[in-house]
Amino acid sequence: MRKYCLIPLFFMFVFQNIQAQTLSKDERMQWWREAKFGMFIHWGVYAQYAGTYNGHEQAKGGAEWIMNRSKIPYKEYQAIAKDFNPIQFNAEQWVKYAQEAGMKYIVITAKHHDGFAMFKTNASKWNIVDATPYGRDILKELAAACKKYNMKLGFYYSQAQDWINPGGAASRKLMNEGWANPDSTTIDNFTKLHDGHWDALQETKTFDEYINQVAVPQVKELLTNYGDVSVLWWDTPVNMTNDAAKKLNELLKLQPNIITNDRLKKPEYPGDTRTPEQKIPGVKDLDNNDWETCMTMNGTWGFRASDNNWKSSKVLIQNLCDIASKGGNYLLNVGPKADGTFPIESIDRLKEMGTWLQKNKESIYASKASPIGSFDWGRCTTNLTKQGLAVYLLVFNWPANGSLNIPLIKNKIKRVTVLETGEKCSFVNNEVNTNITIPYNAPNDKVSVIKLLLKGDKIL
Ligand code: GLC
Repeated sequence: MRKYCLIPLFFMFVFQNIQAQTLSKDERMQWWREAKFGMFIHWGVYAQYAGTYNGHEQAKGGAEWIMNRSKIPYKEYQAIAKDFNPIQFNAEQWVKYAQEAGMKYIVITAKHHDGFAMFKTNASKWNIVDATPYGRDILKELAAACKKYNMKLGFYYSQAQDWINPGGAASRKLMNEGWANPDSTTIDNFTKLHDGHWDALQETKTFDEYINQVAVPQVKELLTNYGDVSVLWWDTPVNMTNDAAKKLNELLKLQPNIITNDRLKKPEYPGDTRTPEQKIPGVKDLDNNDWETCMTMNGTWGFRASDNNWKSSKVLIQNLCDIASKGGNYLLNVGPKADGTFPIESIDRLKEMGTWLQKNKESIYASKASPIGSFDWGRCTTNLTKQGLAVYLLVFNWPANGSLNIPLIKNKIKRVTVLETGEKCSFVNNEVNTNITIPYNAPNDKVSVIKLLLKGDKIL
């Protein structure tokens, strides 16, 4: 009799444990919403071309697209894996760069559109372990380093486009849009083939076969063999079907707390996050969704030797502030070189961003969007703390007259300080404005932050 009484207890125990693992969306999103700043990494065998094929500079687009843009023959592209030997790759060093920059998560291309898996996979030989002299699973090493340094790790996976695993989709990029291979005999194939393919070897299987034999098993591997995966970042749903999207989406259950984006298939799979690319949305474009702007530091995702169009660290810091002031995240890209090192220009910028964040971190991490809009002189974020409501004025253009005007704040203002020095600022209210007296010289040459501490939990 007693034995039977224990059965319901057993089920209650099991049920509670299942429940404990299933977080609500808000709980699942919490770390991400607080993180604000992450590192995108685009790395693959294409880094060896560095944007140039047979002496022709790729005319347009990210250098990770060179196989498609230049219509490089299948076998020829495949052969470059034999030279991929990034002996300088050091997972811990990469994670340290991210951490020192103040980034809280990393999203790396596990497989980009060229189909090359940067991990050991049983679904295709076209992977870093089986096809290169390097022979190491860099995702394994990165996952271990992230775990060691408490960095969240996510995987980018090109689920539809795959230019090497047969049956994968290819977006058609026309010749006048970045043709870097005018002499190639593949031009004939290019005009004959369908679906954006330019080499018959891409068409020896169907899209469904590619999904079932490559994409599904690889995503399963990614979500099983690397510990906690924080983000699955899909991209370019070219020719994507509902059936394929459903199968891939189901796999996310392998990581119950994973966060995913809106690029699996539109509009059926909106995911958790919107992904504006290379741009920061205006407040009007935002509709209460979580969003993350992904952006390059120069003009390319994958490494391109000739791209010197680097944004200054000042612009990058101001972008981070702008994004935080609108409630989004900044996923900033690094395109490592073929030897496994980061371009020096990226390292410099990461360091400068880290230095700024070190002094001004409380205005960014876990901050909330500005309730009082944007200003000509800069942006605003808020953060509810135990001491009261902190309002941060992120000043891009330091007023020469030593005074900063914001709309009248009716709360009791406990104090106003320059965040990085602690220097106190005086303030007065008139009918329409709160006017803050600030030092004549900007305390920071990138963005200077003034902190107001208010009584209450919202601006009155
Ligand atoms: C694009 C490109 C790609 C890049 C990505 C980043 O859709 O196809 O090369 O990885 O955006 O957002």
